Amino acid sequence: MNIFNSKSELKAFLIQQKEEGKTIGFVPTMGALHKGHLSLIKRAKKQNDITVVSIFVNPTQFDNKEDLEKYPQPLDNDIKLLKKVACDVLFTPSVNEIYADDIIAQKFDFDGLENQMEGRYRKGHFDGVGTIVKSLFEIVEPTVAYFGKKDFQQLQIIKKLAKKYHIPVKVKGRPIFREDDGLAMSSRNVRLTKEHREAAPFIYKTLKKAKKKFGTKNVNELEQWVEKQFKKQDLLELEYFTIADEETLQTPKVIESNKKYRAFIAVFAGDIRLIDNIGL
Ligand code: PAF
Repeated sequence: MNIFNSKSELKAFLIQQKEEGKTIGFVPTMGALHKGHLSLIKRAKKQNDITVVSIFVNPTQFDNKEDLEKYPQPLDNDIKLLKKVACDVLFTPSVNEIYADDIIAQKFDFDGLENQMEGRYRKGHFDGVGTIVKSLFEIVEPTVAYFGKKDFQQLQIIKKLAKKYHIPVKVKGRPIFREDDGLAMSSRNVRLTKEHREAAPFIYKTLKKAKKKFGTKNVNELEQWVEKQFKKQDLLELEYFTIADEETLQTPKVIESNKKYRAFIAVFAGDIRLIDNIGL
């Protein structure tokens, strides 16, 4: 596996690959790789000639200093995992390599996709995501880029980013990977205490029950039902539960049969914030 820290060296390497007619699959990550990431990488390998993974904990997308400082960074283990799945290229730039002296996010307008759920509760988050993903797309110039659907809102925003800025990349979303007890895989899960880890599968259990009730209750009633379930839980604090149209990410006033909807949730397990979603 080729490992690059420098944008110019990575670019030079990839230009050569493209001149040989090779396609580039790209999996941007913040490291602390789990099976979900590895499945994206395997997919990228299957569909492209060269697979590039980036590991960069992007400071401008964190609205919480402690979350950034404590974000797990087991780089040696990540490199071992990447070698195991025969990843071709790893890009691990420093903050300085990406931002120079200006660690600030560009401001984006994603046609309203950024204003609810994660965007509403994590101020500036999607400006940070947009800034780093645009910059990585400009460096790597991938043929296809792969993202997990756990961050479904992020996925839709990145599709919009590519469209608005005419970036010639195909953005693909892949299914959520779950632990055996249903907890969505996340790099933050390793930071859960034993008791919060044991409580956390309640999130997906509740999403599955809400899915069953969708259609028998209206959106408001369903939101209230979920709030009630979490009030009975000492270890988990609900931040939001909502239903949204998959394309617009707006909460529908009435359910239309020709549209696809998804339930979205964010929950605090102690200090750790977990998100999940389910197609309805
Ligand atoms: O989903 C992530 O890990 C990050 O938000 C991403 C897309 C790598 C941008 O930093």
